Amino acid sequence: MPSDAVTDPNEALKQKWDQRHASAEGIGDVAAVLAENIHLLPPAGDALDLACGRGASAIRLARAGLRITAWDLSPVAIERLNSAAREQRLAIAAEVRDVIARPPAPESYDLILVSYFLERALAPAIIQALRPGGLLFYQTFSVNAVSDCGPSNPAFRLQENELLKLFQPLKVRVYREEGRLGDCRFGTRDIAMLVAQKPGINDNF
Ligand SMILES: C[S@@+](CC[C@H](N)C(=O)[O-])C[C@H]1O[C@@H](n2cnc3c(N)ncnc32)[C@H](O)[C@@H]1O
Repeated sequence: MPSDAVTDPNEALKQKWDQRHASAEGIGDVAAVLAENIHLLPPAGDALDLACGRGASAIRLARAGLRITAWDLSPVAIERLNSAAREQRLAIAAEVRDVIARPPAPESYDLILVSYFLERALAPAIIQALRPGGLLFYQTFSVNAVSDCGPSNPAFRLQENELLKLFQPLKVRVYREEGRLGDCRFGTRDIAMLVAQKPGINDNF
């Protein structure tokens, strides 16, 4: 075996994402689930962008006045986010972190955003990590897509209504999954999105 061969599967994943983030323009797009529901944000609190990529959504959350933590496996993504945050004079606690090996601690966030990252086994930890009344913003690719964007392996795409099932203990505030219904030239296609709230004593923050 060549000495520089990648044997750790996580290392291979990290390299794959590092390459993608290094060759991509800018910091990416704010997640639609966030951009379309910005009015649902609490005025303050602790937010986590889990598997944040280059951080467009984390930056949007920081601009909204939330204290932001952002984690991603890719050091390149975190460096790009840190540099954008520095330029914009925003305080974001960005960290290279494998969120599967090290999920968030119980009751540690008022808001968690997950965009285009699907690790089903993490759903219970995400629910636990929300404080009472806390909000989950989640979006990712679904199997009923109209374009070929996103992963080709159907295991990495949501089945119909799957976000509702994965986060069933939470109260649904927004759910959108249009599939191929109606005129597919319009609408929010290819993804499912959920905004949901953990039951608690102070559901309205
Ligand atoms: C499709 S990108 C989405 C990035 C960002 N959330 C967005 O919407 O633009 C998926 C991200 O997940 C990260 N990722 C993959 N596995 C991870 C893991 N185990 N822990 C943390 N981040 C991971 C990748 O580095 C990549 O930045």
